[in-house]
Amino acid sequence: MSIVFDRERQTLTLHTAGSSYQMQIGPLGVLLHLYYGPRCEGCFDYLYLPRDRGFSPNPHERTEGRGFSLDNLPQEYSGSNCGDFRLPSLRLHTDRGVTGAELRYLRHEIRPGKYSLEGLPCAWDRGGEAETLSVTLRDEASGLEVELLYGVFEALDVITRAVRITNRGGQTVTLEAAASACLDLPFGRWDCLHFPGRHAFERQTQRCALPDGITAFSSTRGMSGHQHNPFVLLCDRDATEDAGACYGLMLAYSGNHETFLERDQTGSLRAVTGIGTQNFSWQLRPGEHFETPEALLCFSAQGLTPLSQRYHRFLRQNVCRGFWAGRRRPVLLNSWEAAYFDFDEASILRLAREAKALGAELLVLDDGWFGHRQDDRSSLGDWFANPAKLPRGLGPLVEGVRKEGLLFGIWLEPEGVSEDSELYRAHPDWALRVPGRLPALSRDQLVLDLSRKEVTDYLYEMISALLREHAISYVKWDMNRGLADLYSAALPPERQGELAHRYMLGLYALLDRLTREFPEVLFEGCAGGGGRFDAGMLAYCPQIWASDNSEAVSRLAIQEGTSYGYPASALGAHVSACPNHQTGRSVPLGTRAVVAMAGTFGYELDPARLTEAEKAEIREQIARFRDYDELVRTGDHYRLRSTGESACALWAFVAADKSAALLSFVLPAPEANAPAVHVRLKGLASDGVYRLARADFFGCLLEPQPLSRTRFTGAELMCGGLTLPALYGDAPSAQLLFIRDDA
Ligand code: GLA
Repeated sequence: MSIVFDRERQTLTLHTAGSSYQMQIGPLGVLLHLYYGPRCEGCFDYLYLPRDRGFSPNPHERTEGRGFSLDNLPQEYSGSNCGDFRLPSLRLHTDRGVTGAELRYLRHEIRPGKYSLEGLPCAWDRGGEAETLSVTLRDEASGLEVELLYGVFEALDVITRAVRITNRGGQTVTLEAAASACLDLPFGRWDCLHFPGRHAFERQTQRCALPDGITAFSSTRGMSGHQHNPFVLLCDRDATEDAGACYGLMLAYSGNHETFLERDQTGSLRAVTGIGTQNFSWQLRPGEHFETPEALLCFSAQGLTPLSQRYHRFLRQNVCRGFWAGRRRPVLLNSWEAAYFDFDEASILRLAREAKALGAELLVLDDGWFGHRQDDRSSLGDWFANPAKLPRGLGPLVEGVRKEGLLFGIWLEPEGVSEDSELYRAHPDWALRVPGRLPALSRDQLVLDLSRKEVTDYLYEMISALLREHAISYVKWDMNRGLADLYSAALPPERQGELAHRYMLGLYALLDRLTREFPEVLFEGCAGGGGRFDAGMLAYCPQIWASDNSEAVSRLAIQEGTSYGYPASALGAHVSACPNHQTGRSVPLGTRAVVAMAGTFGYELDPARLTEAEKAEIREQIARFRDYDELVRTGDHYRLRSTGESACALWAFVAADKSAALLSFVLPAPEANAPAVHVRLKGLASDGVYRLARADFFGCLLEPQPLSRTRFTGAELMCGGLTLPALYGDAPSAQLLFIRDDA
């Protein structure tokens, strides 16, 4: 049993392989949070000594005395306007002017399997993996019932949380905030890791000591955003990759989100994460209910690496779904950086032929193939072949590409609409815009109102017809602007605050319908690169284009930041041309491939502009990636740091059965007479013998010194480590493959 109710102590304890999580139905029915940490037995109510802290209110019942205050005790799901002045999880008002919520225990239930959510992406139980705890709380004044849902994936070491809020009273209630999870950590000194960025510079890693007061990370852009990812880690001040307590809070949500972290007057930390509350409200008439997005919680007592690996495994197996989730993905060549808007049938067929000759398996026709689109100013919404570029339509092109022996993929931006489009001219009210105000343009486009069923039905008909008519194996689902001008012509004034979330529900319903009907089509998510890289999108798109910055050195930080929460199998990464189109930097072709091989691997260049030597190198890269693919896609990922002084990137994928390890190393800017780069491998079998099966060096102007040995024990590689040869060149790199050889 992974969920245990102790009747005598009134505790509910959730156990996963490495963690325990405990709450208690406390005095007056207050649901107290007692513990989240290493797996253990016990009852942790003894930790919270009653203490009268001035100005911290007490419940009117007086039974517990002045030492009992919601303002001090750890809460499982905090209320508001009821004597807990810290971060609320639930804010509301009713039509009679009641505000806030005082939540008291009503009932609970433990059941096998995983709860599900209506219309929201959430983790799934592949069979006997999860148990559900439902704890219902009630706020008397508003008549709301708040059902806290916990999905306990014991072996996978993850606890999912969501909240279902039902109006059981007679008033109309308007939710102003409804968090997915609240986590109180009463003791300890915590650092926070989060992943800020911007377009073409996503998910940089930032670690900061949490100050007293409130720290917040959020998106108000209608998408999870390039700026802040809906994933935050809390860790011990001295936690490292391999040591220290760490907690992960990840939302399976792709819209507005916020995570608040409050270090309060006594040093207790409260984390509240959920749907973004700016411009949010949700009306519940008597009998109606609301479900929050799901939060994925994970704890590691041994540092950041195991935490990341748990998320990787969980997202791969229990969030990504469908035909492609666990399969090798085709190596693709994308037309975007090869041709941008400048192509026709013949040039795309030529691209396909050359892609095939290089060993690619999928040709993706990116932006520009529809309406009369010649640049990014028109035609979004007109998803029929552009007569100026494809006068014979899409059919002959798709067939032509398939005759070359490649799968065909296509770019769509279904959520966007150009003012210069037939769709907009026919349905101007389908775009989001505030009456009486001109809408903000972004990339010269508007956004369709996906909260409206007729809009998502239209998109479904259009996309499903496209997929039925043509042998399309892959869709790049892009979204190139944020949601400004929140107003829906189809919602009454009092429900306009629901729009941003209703938009997401519309998007998820559409994706759900399409991915169910076309399970063998590979959907890759994208939003101006990595603007919607989150666990919500991963439920429909097993891979997401990580950044519009395809330049390998910039990608190191982007991909490393991404790796804290998301697996390599989800990370879209391509080799592109040099000088790079985003930074102007030239990185050796071999190094570009080493970096792209930490993701789904593909190309984004015109082979016609390559030399014969480069083409030969690419053929070898694709063959090599086929060998490494499974290791990258399913292996355990390790962020490794060198003990040398040069700034370098080092990471490894180790097979789950420890039979092989791929070590990758990039040295962006070699220095003269630099200290040796030394690294300790991780995750090997100590007593295993590993043979260096391949050592490839790229971008080296001088032949690197060979390693003096090719056989090592796992212990040698993990304890003694490995001294890497000095590399000389501009952004040189190395890839070392170790195969276990003592079986
Ligand atoms: C976005 C994507 C790019 C490309 C362009 C096309 O920026 O992230 O990969 O598809 O749109 O306009």
